[in-house]
Amino acid sequence: MSVSYMTHPLIRHKITLLRKEDTSTNEFRKLVEEIAMLMGYEALSDLETQDITVKTPIEESVQPVISGKKLAVVPILRAGLGMVNGILALVPSARVGHIGLYRDPETHAPHEYYCKLPDPIDQRQIVVVDPMLATGGSAIAAVDFIKKHGGQKIKFMSIIAAPEGVDALMNAHPDIQLYVGCLDRELNENAYICPGLGDAGDRIFGTK
Ligand code: PRP
Ligand code: URA
Repeated sequence: MSVSYMTHPLIRHKITLLRKEDTSTNEFRKLVEEIAMLMGYEALSDLETQDITVKTPIEESVQPVISGKKLAVVPILRAGLGMVNGILALVPSARVGHIGLYRDPETHAPHEYYCKLPDPIDQRQIVVVDPMLATGGSAIAAVDFIKKHGGQKIKFMSIIAAPEGVDALMNAHPDIQLYVGCLDRELNENAYICPGLGDAGDRIFGTK
């Protein structure tokens, strides 16, 4: 598995604002969307193109375009939903799947409650989005599910990751490409990322 850590100052700046305890729900949502778009720009740099003929005011010319139908964005619910519009701003005709998982508060193991993917999925470039990669349990379960349904070309984008989550995902799915906005120090005893940003789902949706 390849892991790319974002170094662009704009991404790092926005992640710093995201971490602040006093960032409002409204600002938090906007930042998550903007960071997803900036990370998406990097993660999609190898997107396939096809040539079409266009007529400029001067002459006909063969030029590349991307096919949005070939891309599927798959948020892990809930917090991943906050990143979807950032990717759709880049590729508006991409398809969107959903994987509903929540972490058991005691064991931290992921529980699946809803999954729906674009069909067929096997030829698509899939971009799974979730702001937090903590133990890696949710990410591994999501990629397991996508592979079981035939998904092959899988990228995973997380805004903040713990070293434990990166290692776990790398061991479970060495064939995927991982994009991380910032690698944090460690997990605490409740499997929250330190310094992290708290509970991403609660901060995006204003719940507690
Ligand atoms: C959060 C986050 C990830 C998961 C990461 O979701 O959005 O999906 O935890 O933790 P892990 O790497 O240890 O699995 P959560 O389960 O809190 O659900 P929510 O998005 O609905 O709040
Ligand atoms: N899920 C979150 O939302 N935050 C963490 O720090 C860990 C898991």
